[in-house]
Amino acid sequence: MSCLILIGMMGAGKTTVGKELARRRKLRFADCDHEIVARTGVTIPTIFEIEGEAGFRRRETQMMDELTLEPDIVIATGGGVVIAPENRALMRERGVVVYLNVPPQILYERTRHDRNRPLLQVENPRQRIDELYRQRDPLYREVAHIIVDGGRTNPGTMVRLIED
Ligand code: S3P
Repeated sequence: MSCLILIGMMGAGKTTVGKELARRRKLRFADCDHEIVARTGVTIPTIFEIEGEAGFRRRETQMMDELTLEPDIVIATGGGVVIAPENRALMRERGVVVYLNVPPQILYERTRHDRNRPLLQVENPRQRIDELYRQRDPLYREVAHIIVDGGRTNPGTMVRLIED
């Protein structure tokens, strides 16, 4: 099969659901952020600090171009992957794209103690999540082949919904 690509906001559960899907289907699992960290040898916050968000986005686009060419792979993307039109096009063309849609309040509760997400290290992260969700939800919907409501659904149920 072509690749299976999970998209959605920070805290939507892309990594958890992706790992479980890959395990069940005996496919390789790759998390785009982890691949970037493994290649650069530094954390995501450090990349943002040194190269800015633009530098991180260049690395993300390059990594997505590589990962989506692999057969038999489940890919968990970073939440901002849909910002770049070229990423949207290549995901849609090369894979089956699943949007894990989770409401902002739940995303906030899941990410509030996380220091590893530079875009949320602001005075009002709850408001920031609202803004990002408003900008990105239409883009996730544009790219997705399948939309899963992840609000009140646990990862196991999400996996079953995707597999059906
Ligand atoms: C980002 C999401 C993060 C990571 C980076 C930027 C975003 O990935 O790529 O901090 O723009 O939403 P997760 O969605 O896995 O947290």
